Amino acid sequence: MAKILVTGGIGYIGSHTVVELHNAGYEVLIVDNLSNSSIKILDQLHKITGKYHEFVELDLQDTFAVNNFAEQHSDIDGIIHFAAYKAVGESVREPLKYYKNNFYSLINLLTAYPKTNFVFSSSCTVYGQPDHLPVTEDSPVKKAESPYGNTKQIAEEILEETAKVTPGLNVIALRYFNPVGAHKTALIGELPNGVPQNLVPFITQSAIGKRGAIQVFGDDYDTPDGSAVRDYIHVVDLAKAHVAAVKRLEDGKVNGYDVFNLGTGKGSSVLEIIHAFEQSTGEKLDYQIAPRREGDVEKTYGDVTKSKNVLGWQTELDLNEMMRSAWEWEKYLRDNPF
Ligand code: NAD
Ligand code: WQD
Repeated sequence: MAKILVTGGIGYIGSHTVVELHNAGYEVLIVDNLSNSSIKILDQLHKITGKYHEFVELDLQDTFAVNNFAEQHSDIDGIIHFAAYKAVGESVREPLKYYKNNFYSLINLLTAYPKTNFVFSSSCTVYGQPDHLPVTEDSPVKKAESPYGNTKQIAEEILEETAKVTPGLNVIALRYFNPVGAHKTALIGELPNGVPQNLVPFITQSAIGKRGAIQVFGDDYDTPDGSAVRDYIHVVDLAKAHVAAVKRLEDGKVNGYDVFNLGTGKGSSVLEIIHAFEQSTGEKLDYQIAPRREGDVEKTYGDVTKSKNVLGWQTELDLNEMMRSAWEWEKYLRDNPF
């Protein structure tokens, strides 16, 4: 059974990917320093998969610890690297925290495992506001709006340049659009730290009474209803794309470096999301129009033709399922506080 090292595997997207790797017959080794996650997720993963997955608490910024870890775990067949800090606003306030974690972790891993199959969590943020929509993988990478975004752009370059000169290192970078929703069991989902900056967790927390009215950031964009447009993707579909990426690497089909968009290919506005949530859950939301949020792009959604044709992956879950599962998870958290 092939064994995959999942860094950040206790986190939001990582935990859903552990489930899909397990379902696809992989053995999983999780590394996480729990800086943005709860160890209880390990129990939740056990409830879903019937298995306690091997877990090592480790800070990937620690070069010595990572080398030591790699010596003890040389038997892995690939790495999915989720571990990183991801809060855009915080990265503007504390850039070094982001450059340090997101680069040290990546470089330590690549140094300790120089020849491996490597899947990297990148982001649609690398495109900024694209000139043409839907945005393809060949669209230009725009100057990053935040240190966080910059870490993704530079990490992609580090990976591409390193893979080019390192036989045996093969990399797939996955550019996620906006991951939302939770597992259908409602046993795992997103655990936002403090006031959610992202739309869907704010919606669910507002609906459950944990937050006040939702602020719709801008209604004067050049979009059908004036609110900003994004490509929301169900986290379970996203997780499955990682399994497809691992398989493609295993099949020897990646010679060095490749990159894929992961989205639905369809844009939805903030107001459409609010109404989809109300329709899927029967809950009434309290919202008001607020000024635009600094640094936001007006509209973006992905061209996912390459993922479909080359990776053999496409999304299966719609907005209704994204909203329904996010709501079930919020209610689970209310009844079972972490
Ligand atoms: P998350 O914070 O839920 O998960 C990241 C996990 O990595 C956490 O469990 C955290 O404790 C761990 N971690 C962080 N630094 C670490 C370190 N130095 N050593 C060990 N573990 C460490 O985030 P997520 O939403 O699951 O995102 C996963 C990846 O996907 C990140 O790289 C993120 O930048 C990227 N991404 C996320 C989104 C999104 O909207 N959620 C969009 C695009 C890309
Ligand atoms: C979506 C839309 C907001 C909250 C961010 C990162 C990006 C990526 C995904 C990691 C926007 C609007 C939001 C609210 C609102 N992460 N909104 N009221 O900004 O597209 O992307 O997460 O790589 O890098 O920048 O996602 O969920 O924050 O916002 O009106 O309370 O919802 O203005 O138009 P975003 P988001």
